[in-house]
Order: sequence, then C-alpha cells, then structure tokens
Amino acid sequence: MNNASAHVIVLGNEKGGSGKSTTAFHLAVYLLYQGYKVATIDVDTRQQTLTKFVNNRLSWAEKMGLDIPHSDHHHLSISCGDSIKENQKQEFEKFRNSIVKTEQNADFLIIDTPGFDTHLTRLSHSLADTLITPLNDSLIDLDVLAKIDATNGEPLELGHYSRLVQRARRERMVIDGRNIDWLLLRNRLSMLASRNSTFMHKGLEMTALRLGARVAKGVGERVIFRSLFPIGMTVFDPINKDFLGAVSLKSQANIRNEYQSLVAALNLPKTNELEPLAG
Ligand SMILES: Nc1ncnc2c1ncn2[C@@H]1O[C@H](COP(=O)(O)OP(=O)(O)O)[C@@H](O)[C@H]1O
Ligand SMILES: [Mg+2]
Repeated sequence: MNNASAHVIVLGNEKGGSGKSTTAFHLAVYLLYQGYKVATIDVDTRQQTLTKFVNNRLSWAEKMGLDIPHSDHHHLSISCGDSIKENQKQEFEKFRNSIVKTEQNADFLIIDTPGFDTHLTRLSHSLADTLITPLNDSLIDLDVLAKIDATNGEPLELGHYSRLVQRARRERMVIDGRNIDWLLLRNRLSMLASRNSTFMHKGLEMTALRLGARVAKGVGERVIFRSLFPIGMTVFDPINKDFLGAVSLKSQANIRNEYQSLVAALNLPKTNELEPLAG
C-alpha cells in the first residue's frame, strides 16, 4: 500500500460485551495475513482485552514455536496522577505518541475503544476513517443507538452514543473535510430466525438510514471464540485441533467466510485486491 497515513479503523460502542475487542483482534490478524502492516491501539485502559489477546498470542507463539504475524501493538496504561485533569493530560500524551509512532508506518491502524465515554474514546472516534459498531442481536443493543418505536421499529430519539459519533463526524469534517464511514455490525447472530431478529433488522436498517450509517452482517454466535482468547489465536491461524474441541473445521471455514464478507463490506482501500484465504 502507499506510504500515506494509515487507514484508521475504530471499534466503538458504548455497550460492553458487543464484540469490539474480538472483532478488532480478528480484523487485525486477517489483514496481517493479507500482507498488510497493521498497528493496534488499545484505548480501553480498564479491561485491556485487546492487549490481553495480543499478549496471549505472543506467549503462545513462543511456547509452540509458531511463526505467525503480530500487529505493532500499543496499549495505554491507566494514569495515576493527582487530578483528573493531570491524568487526562498524561493519557492524551500516551495516545498521541502511539498515533505518531504508528500512522506513518502502518497500512491499517485499528483502535479498540472502551464501552464508556472518555476523552480518548471521543478523540479516537474523530480519527476514524472507518467506524465499526458491533451490536448483539438484541433490541437492548439497538437502544444505545436510538430509542425505537415498538410498533414499527422506527427510531424516535437518538441515543447518547449516536450523538457522540455525530459530534466526532462534525469534528472530522472541520479537521480534514472527510466523512467517517460508519458500519453497524450485527454480531453473534442466532442461526434461528425469530420475530425479535426480524424486528431488530428492520429497526437497525431504519436507524442506519437516519444516522447515515451502513449495516453489515458480522459473525454468527460461535463458541470457538471462547477457546481462542486464552491462546491469542484466530480462525485464520494454524490451530492445533486439540484446541478446537468439538468445533469442526467446517465451522472454522464458515467463520473465515463471514470475516471475508465483513472485510468486503468495509470497502477498505486496496482490499478489493485481496486473495481469498485458504479454507
Ligand atoms: N461472534 C461471537 N460468537 C460468540 N461469542 C462472541 C462473539 N463475538 C464476541 N463474543 C464473546 O462476547 C464476549 C464479549 O466480547 P468482547 O469482544 O470482549 O466485547 P467488547 O469489547 O465489546 O466488550 C466475549 O466473551 C467474546 O468471546
Ligand atoms: Mg472490549
């Protein structure tokens, strides 16, 4: 890819447990396997799930002697200064240093944000070229974006997180005249069709239209993610079959396909030239 600044992908949603860190990690590894230089920044100073994924991966690779790709990872530790203002200043400095170090060297910079509103969450959003908001297949998750009319699925009132993104978009427009491409990602989809899932889909489509966002289908509900976290591996890595347990190779191939479709839906620069991964 060219030497211009990295394309910045931010994972954001004020709802915890929606799949931000899991998606950030899988996307990073997927792009690494496609030969891109990928940097990752974990802005979630409390949970640090992405950092744990990365550290687990490094330990596992060393233990098993695996030659697998790793992102250039940066995490922001919690500042313990005397005042909130001082802490914010220190955290901002750490964040700025990470951005400066990564943006000229990486093709893609993936930023994972926490499930709450901090100054760095807001700043991260205003840097996004692509913003991915994973949502579990539940109206409770949709409520973070907008209050929905229970009769027809129409958005009645925007939620706090949607307003945060709107502000970030305005800031971004002022800074360099660019828009943030916002994707609402339906994650952990149930394999069974239900009235809830149909209504959710309708509500989400209408909300996306109102927000100027797009809807993409993500990954289904897959138990394999629980086994992969402790060893920092993804469905794109060579995984010892002992760790897959009851999960079949077919399921692994299905998840790869789901990620391939997701990346295609992102319309990332240059990725339309990507080769499909071996199944
Ligand atoms: N597609 C999926 N299928 C099954 N479990 C998932 C899926 N995506 C995420 N999870 C699980 O959901 C939980 C929350 O995911 P995480 O990525 O930490 O969310 P967040 O970063 O938004 O808080 C984790 O236990 C993770 O393994
Ligand atoms: Mg997380």
